[in-house]
Amino acid sequence: MKSITTISNVTFAVFVFCLAVWCCGEEEMDVAPMEKTEKEALYSAIQGFVGNWWNGSALYPDPCGWTPIQGVSCDLFEGFWYVTALIIGPVHDNSLGCATKLEFRPELFELKHLKTLSFFNCFVSSHRYPISIPSNNWKKLAGSLESLEFRSNPGLIGQFPASFGFLLKLQSLVLIESGLTGKLPTNIGNLINLKRLVLAGNRFNGPIPCSFGGLSQLLIFDLSRNTLSGPLPSSLGGLTSLLKFDLSNNQLEGMLPSEISNLKNLTLLDLRNNNFSGGLSKLLEETCSLEELVLSNNPIGGVFTCLEWHKLHNLVVLDLSNVGLKGEIPESISKLKRLRFLGLSDNHLTGKLPAKLSTLPCVTALYLNGNNLTGEINFSEGFLGKMGRRFGAWNNPNLCYPVGLKSPSHVPYGVKLCQKEVTVHESNPRTK
Ligand SMILES: *[C@@H]1O[C@H](CO)[C@@H](O)[C@H](O)[C@H]1NC(C)=O
Ligand SMILES: *[C@@H]1O[C@H](CO)[C@@H](O)[C@H](O)[C@H]1NC(C)=O
Ligand SMILES: *[C@@H]1O[C@H](CO)[C@@H](O)[C@H](O)[C@H]1NC(C)=O
Ligand SMILES: *[C@@H]1O[C@H](CO)[C@@H](O)[C@H](O)[C@H]1NC(C)=O
Ligand SMILES: *[C@@H]1O[C@H](CO)[C@@H](O)[C@H](O)[C@H]1NC(C)=O
Repeated sequence: MKSITTISNVTFAVFVFCLAVWCCGEEEMDVAPMEKTEKEALYSAIQGFVGNWWNGSALYPDPCGWTPIQGVSCDLFEGFWYVTALIIGPVHDNSLGCATKLEFRPELFELKHLKTLSFFNCFVSSHRYPISIPSNNWKKLAGSLESLEFRSNPGLIGQFPASFGFLLKLQSLVLIESGLTGKLPTNIGNLINLKRLVLAGNRFNGPIPCSFGGLSQLLIFDLSRNTLSGPLPSSLGGLTSLLKFDLSNNQLEGMLPSEISNLKNLTLLDLRNNNFSGGLSKLLEETCSLEELVLSNNPIGGVFTCLEWHKLHNLVVLDLSNVGLKGEIPESISKLKRLRFLGLSDNHLTGKLPAKLSTLPCVTALYLNGNNLTGEINFSEGFLGKMGRRFGAWNNPNLCYPVGLKSPSHVPYGVKLCQKEVTVHESNPRTK
């Protein structure tokens, strides 16, 4: 019996209340039974976030009954109502807004059945009233808390509280777009029930703890947009349930661990804008559930043909821009029938452009600019017309488009016309 509260509930509750008073005269109202300590803890915790003007007992005398508070959910445990969810911040029109000067009151941690705690756009005054997450007390919520989310709270500063490591029931830990700094604590690896670990858009630094590899239930792992450094621990191959793996925009380096090939259900691997090197691991082709592989802007190096790309037949996005790739573009890429985006720009690719690339049925963007491809662009005029500027072939000094394109607007941007004399010596006899 969960009471997700809305304004219409309030209206309805007031109506029922009036009806009750009308029927039963001055008899005592049916207040949802709640321990005094629970009720007072709720009022005080909320007051800490929204300001002292907020008088809970006057405004909401029956918070789990006929005067519900937006963002508060309750549940019945052995005949008494307890708070199970507390959502602070402007989520709905009539949500609890946050004060400029706010505090985590100790009473927050007395809500012993609290499963969900989230803060959205609440701690915003990073200059005047920065605040850090309390380091103690979280242990008190260890028996109940399943979801802890802080989204868009730039005024939240300081370290990642190591005491989050006590919250063993946690399934979702989200700390996104805050001002948190420092190293990631090792004991987060103890939270083996985690399905979602999102720490994106903070200023965390230092290495990714090896212990994170123990989170075998994890589905979403997103540490993007921090300043994490060092190599990827090979233990991350233990994240066998993983669907989304996003470490983009950090300062990570070293080789891509071949253990990534253990992640059989992975659909997204985004490592763009880091300092990874050491070539592409052939084992990458075993993660055949991958739909998005984004490795752009890393000095990875190696040759493009070292992988049998057609094995990654679920790929929708393949972005290998600016990764120092050498060699030719294999024709087998044209077997990736679901591919929509192919980014190979700013590499050292050479050789001819396989005409079959233009037979990719879903492709809407194809970037090959900034390489050293040679010869004729032998794509149909229909394909060139459809793609427009989303076909990037400029900055390939030895690439040209053939004579005879009917519409000038179909000429690939930044590519010169082939000279009549350019003879492409084909030794293979063509059988068609
Ligand atoms: C809150 O309201 C109650 C009931 O109206 C009142 O007794 C109490 O003094 C108020 N508290 C504050 C701090 O104003
Ligand atoms: C991978 O996904 C399948 C289908 O959704 C599921 O049955 C399987 O348990 C998943 N594997 C792991 C290791 O989570
Ligand atoms: C990138 O990694 C290399 C070692 O592979 C190191 O020499 C270089 O300083 C790193 N660059 C940055 C910007 O961290
Ligand atoms: C590009 O390739 C041509 C031969 O195909 C070679 O002569 C030239 O040096 C290469 N340019 C660069 C910048 O690698
Ligand atoms: C271009 O493609 C057409 C058909 O796909 C083929 O007949 C022709 O020989 C190709 N030309 C070059 C120069 O590769």
